[in-house]
Amino acid sequence: MLILKNARNVSGEKIDVLIDKGIIQDIRLSGGCKAGGVPSVFKTEGKAIGGTSGFAAGREIDLEGKILMPGIIDLHTHMRDPGLTHKEDFYTGSRACAKGGISFFFDMPNTVPPTVSEAALSEKIQRARKSSIVHCGFHFGASNEDNVEEIEKVIKSGAAVSTKVFLNESTGLMLIRDSELLKRVFKAGGLIFVHSENEMIDTAVELNARYGRGLYICHISSRREMEAVIKAKQNPELNNKDHPIYAEVTPHHLFLTESLRSESPRQDMLLRMKPELKTQSDADFLMQAIKDGFVDTIGTDHAPHTLEEKLSKLCFGIPGVETSLALMLTAAHQGLIDINTVQKLMCENPAAIMGLAKKGKLLAGFDADIIAVDPDKEWTLTACDIESKCKWSPYEGRRFTGKNIMTIVGGKIVYENGRFKIDGQDGTDYGNRF
Ligand code: DOR
Ligand code: ZN
Ligand code: ZN
Repeated sequence: MLILKNARNVSGEKIDVLIDKGIIQDIRLSGGCKAGGVPSVFKTEGKAIGGTSGFAAGREIDLEGKILMPGIIDLHTHMRDPGLTHKEDFYTGSRACAKGGISFFFDMPNTVPPTVSEAALSEKIQRARKSSIVHCGFHFGASNEDNVEEIEKVIKSGAAVSTKVFLNESTGLMLIRDSELLKRVFKAGGLIFVHSENEMIDTAVELNARYGRGLYICHISSRREMEAVIKAKQNPELNNKDHPIYAEVTPHHLFLTESLRSESPRQDMLLRMKPELKTQSDADFLMQAIKDGFVDTIGTDHAPHTLEEKLSKLCFGIPGVETSLALMLTAAHQGLIDINTVQKLMCENPAAIMGLAKKGKLLAGFDADIIAVDPDKEWTLTACDIESKCKWSPYEGRRFTGKNIMTIVGGKIVYENGRFKIDGQDGTDYGNRF
């Protein structure tokens, strides 16, 4: 049993939270209490069990006014496991997540082998179960060699609920050009996660409206792309209950711009990804779209490559799970975004999109995947802070205001104040929701 005392929620209310058996058992508003006044007392199974110094059955943590949020759910990561584990693996990637406040990540299929068969998916799940210290789920992949039968199998069995489709060239060889094959993939693939740049967004929207059952547009990077998405979202023939459209924006398209690439040849190699960075006015447009309610999620597109790889040849992708929340909290501190919106885009909406009924909200009865953040903590990211196996970040040297200080997964503290509390190699099954 764990009691988190003297915390706040994103609305600023003072709360105490009781956690037991991996579930949030109770949340009490403690706003009425004066300092030194009556402590809040939780009741469970008819017994008063907490709030007083006499409480002994579990750990009580005084959060001294820090903010509790549901753990972040990142629907877009490339953990490189199996096959590319010199870049990242489920152990290092999940530690990076825990440090950054992510309690649940969804992994993309462009691994080696790619996750395009039922067997490859089971193998990946087994690997993740052994070493991930946070929850994880897996997007199945659509292959240009026609794996529609495999897609049908895993979607039918519930082994996956989503399929990633590449409509542009990127890391891995998963681009599909064949329009007949695309139709069948959109029919079979459940919720389609699409890598679509520029005019390919319209293609994805149309395929979804005609054949699909839901479209999640990854990493919208420019004003032009966002305008196309907004237009589609506002059209009830294209975006409706049977064919919903979800919009994702990455932190790097909000907080990095292409002009940074010209600072040095090194930056020009490091700051490359698909879609590429755009201008400040594009980034401003994306932020405005968030404020206007057109964006559903912040997904990191965590796509680590080693420094040697990045500096020796063109590699698309940058790491992101350790910095996404800090970037959003910093933006909240600067008044660019409301912290309630941060919680909505990083926790509530991702849970709802993936059908995670008991996740994404800080409510009694929900799973105890919780983070504590210090919204005023000023810090600078240095290379030695980095948990990801790639050991670099495009944000090294950046000043942040706001930091994750504790990550609780399934009621267990996995990370607290710079320390990992479980080793991830102990055989604990953190599972995969499927
Ligand atoms: O920059 C990217 N990197 N974009 C993608 O679409 C894939 C990703 C990767 O896996 O490296
Ligand atoms: Zn992509
Ligand atoms: Zn990606």
